[in-house]
Amino acid sequence: NLQDTIKSLEDTFDVSTAKLKEISDHFVKELEQGLTEEGGDIPMNVTWCMGFPDGHEQGTFLALDMGGTNLRVCEITLPEAKGEFDILQSKYRMPEELKTGTADELWEYIADCLQQFIEYHHEGEKLGQLPLGFTFSYPATQEYIDHGILQRWTKGFDIDGVEGKDVVAPFEQALADRGVPIKLTALINDTTGTMIASAYTDTDMKIGAIFGTGCNAAYMENCGSIPKIAHLNLPPDMPMAINCEYGAFDNAHKVLPRTKYDIIIDKESPRPGQQTYEKMIAGLYLGELFRLVCLDLYDNPEVRLFAGQDISRLRKAYTLDASFLSRIEEDPFGNLQETVDLFETELKLRVTRGECEVFRRLAELIGTRASRLSMCGISAICKKKDLKKCHVGADGSVFNKYPHFKPRAQKALREILDWPEGEKDWVDVRAAEDGSGVGAALIAALTIKRVKDGS
Ligand code: BG6
Ligand code: GLC
Repeated sequence: NLQDTIKSLEDTFDVSTAKLKEISDHFVKELEQGLTEEGGDIPMNVTWCMGFPDGHEQGTFLALDMGGTNLRVCEITLPEAKGEFDILQSKYRMPEELKTGTADELWEYIADCLQQFIEYHHEGEKLGQLPLGFTFSYPATQEYIDHGILQRWTKGFDIDGVEGKDVVAPFEQALADRGVPIKLTALINDTTGTMIASAYTDTDMKIGAIFGTGCNAAYMENCGSIPKIAHLNLPPDMPMAINCEYGAFDNAHKVLPRTKYDIIIDKESPRPGQQTYEKMIAGLYLGELFRLVCLDLYDNPEVRLFAGQDISRLRKAYTLDASFLSRIEEDPFGNLQETVDLFETELKLRVTRGECEVFRRLAELIGTRASRLSMCGISAICKKKDLKKCHVGADGSVFNKYPHFKPRAQKALREILDWPEGEKDWVDVRAAEDGSGVGAALIAALTIKRVKDGS
């Protein structure tokens, strides 16, 4: 009976090579579509980050990293010649309530953190205006690099009155109200930062990708291949980083093999219909997928998991995060005691050895599906740009912490891109430099240089 359950879960979550190829081909079309005037599901945001660093960038910069879990402030001094960066940093917790609070609370909280950072590290010093690279990892329409209109919140954020508005003005106002001597120089995305920071030390790095709470990538396009900015008459071979925001891939539901669990996640989310791809693969949703399957198996009279027990904890949405799955996948085979303990401590549920085998397989299936589908976006960029061999700079909790993510992803890339037998990986996804610290500082430096050069 439990074996049948495992088999049916495999049928639900396995993604074949043929399906991966089909998704990747459709992905290329959506990337193209996003660059056109009329647009498509994938925003393909123009970032005004126009070129890679050459190693001569200099100066001291602040970097503010507003991710999903932490708020990080860094002060980065770029080395005189390529080498070690000098980094001071403080992390602040991003309170959960802030994600669904008001816009004023958000900007005030961030400004308070910056103020604290400056007071702590520069007490009593007379400071000029410090340039800041702000890593704001949400989709933004930018007309220039120190400006950005939030298109929509992603990753579970739901703060009223910010979508459709410029985020820079209220942020700067909150700083001015506190007399904090900071000038926002560049608003960037975590993927763009990751690409730039990684390319600084490795010129084979062509793509910056995040596999974390959300999922997204950036790459360098030529202005001549971006029809939606053709009216600006920029030189066709001028580089322009594109923040794909491809978590929104297939919002039209044409190719992704969505399960009933994916459909529930979307329906119950603050923005139904958005981020279809991200909701199937990103860290924020992996635990929730697992929980929904468990609930389904509890309700299924043929399976009756947790029979006769109080499952009230399991009924709470988002009660499990991706680390729950990581720990199950890391449980050394044998008696799966760690998994038994995990259910006991986190969910107050007693589980049998047989049930643990189902959980283990389920975690593997969800984790494997995430890493395989994640490579559809990466392979699509490689195809679009004809990148046969390159490195992809990757960051984020799923890439850095989820067991087996990288080998599973590389296997999927090999299947999609058909590398010749016996060849090493042609496209290699590697841990990136700290894009939201170093990358933000480098982009701020490149921006100041461009303004000085008048280009
Ligand atoms: C961090 C970066 O390392 O990774 C952030 O500093 C980025 O800018 C984050 O947003 C993504 O990972 P996660 O798992 O926190 O979403
Ligand atoms: C979400 C955001 C995007 C970010 C990604 C990874 O997809 O919309 O801006 O890059 O998460 O953090």
